[in-house]
Amino acid sequence: MKRRLMLLLSVFAVCGMLMSGCGNSGSTANSGGGGDNKTGTSSGPSTETKTGDEKQQVEIFSWWTGAGEEAGLLGLIKLFQEKHPDIEVVNSAVAGGAGTNAKAVLASRMQGGDPPDAFQVHGGAELNTGWVAAGKVTALNDLYEAEGWMDKFPRELIDLVSLDGNIYSVPVNIHRGNVLFYNKKIFDENNLQAPKTFDEFFEVADALQAKGIVPLALGDKEPWTATMLFENVLLGVLGTDDYKKLWTGELPLDDPGVRTSLETFKRMLNYVNADHAARNWQDAAQLVATGEAAMNVMGDWAKGYFTTDLKLTANEDFGWVASPNTEGMFMVVTDTFAIPLGAKHEASAREFLKVLGSVEGQDVFNPLKGSIPARLDADKSKYDVYGAQTIEDFKASKLAPSMAHGSAAPEGFMTQADQAINIFVTNGDVDLALKSLKQAQDQNIN
Ligand code: GAL
Repeated sequence: MKRRLMLLLSVFAVCGMLMSGCGNSGSTANSGGGGDNKTGTSSGPSTETKTGDEKQQVEIFSWWTGAGEEAGLLGLIKLFQEKHPDIEVVNSAVAGGAGTNAKAVLASRMQGGDPPDAFQVHGGAELNTGWVAAGKVTALNDLYEAEGWMDKFPRELIDLVSLDGNIYSVPVNIHRGNVLFYNKKIFDENNLQAPKTFDEFFEVADALQAKGIVPLALGDKEPWTATMLFENVLLGVLGTDDYKKLWTGELPLDDPGVRTSLETFKRMLNYVNADHAARNWQDAAQLVATGEAAMNVMGDWAKGYFTTDLKLTANEDFGWVASPNTEGMFMVVTDTFAIPLGAKHEASAREFLKVLGSVEGQDVFNPLKGSIPARLDADKSKYDVYGAQTIEDFKASKLAPSMAHGSAAPEGFMTQADQAINIFVTNGDVDLALKSLKQAQDQNIN
């Protein structure tokens, strides 16, 4: 009951966002972060009356448009079309990082009985306490069995997309959410080492600031990026075990460790670019690429942006380490695709999921996207030095689900947390932030 109520509340919240926020979906031109999809495929849902699978169409819904986002999806669509030239792909991507606008559009379409055929959704709470609890998605156990997938994906990942014995989506990737990217030239020229702890971070940041270099790039025009920096700090301060207890309610969100995290986060904000509120994530990552800032804490879609779009080389133009204090930990962000109940082209959607769940599909998508394959048997030779190392790190690390990207906590919590963190970025009021976060936990997490 409580879950259903939570879901309803979050649907209202996203519908409210839909009214107020969707007009902002494009992002700045220099980043290429927003914009139109450029597939050679149809764009936007078809207006024709669709009566069943005989139409041979599949509408794919995601937020992957623009730089650092769409290349992987387009690669996947191309592969799909080679295999299924008879099925038209409708790419209904809605611009906006982390689904800022797409999630609201999806909620409204689902509520309105006009679902796409397959949609992007993070494994974990976003899928399970969201769409599965609302009875809106199809179970895919038979697909997993037919494709022999049960031992091809890590057990933890299958668990993340399952509820009560049913599997509801197919993971296309695993992104690492706790990466500190840095400009190698700046670090080399200033004889600096990439920071591994908070103390080292502040030492390096002071040294950079003294030289007139912006230490840390942030682009929190979309609120999730500030929340993401904060969750990285939370993980660094608490460690994986306590961090995970926040999402089961075993550790209160006004715990002294959370206070320390907020204080550390606040201290970090002294080192960010002055125009952070006007930039999206690509614009912030770009500052590191061009040498206007030294570091950026971001998920490794920024790596895809660096290498696929900006043509930078890993370990030459940019380096990376785990974000401060999180070495040996891996913040998991997994993009998966689910099929809504009542999808107009379910058979075609299953074919699309088969391709994105295949070794070939994952190895086309992930090298472009900056993520690692979700499958255990992918071809490592297809990945550059960053990808190869991240594949190894994933196996050796303690895993933690991302809150900012929907895996750890329900959508209702995220909406409140985004708000609390973004108010905190403006006013730096630790007590108020603790109170709001605790309230969000009490209202959304049992
Ligand atoms: C995440 C998503 C990534 C990437 C990022 C920025 O939520 O999992 O694949 O797209 O947002 O938009």
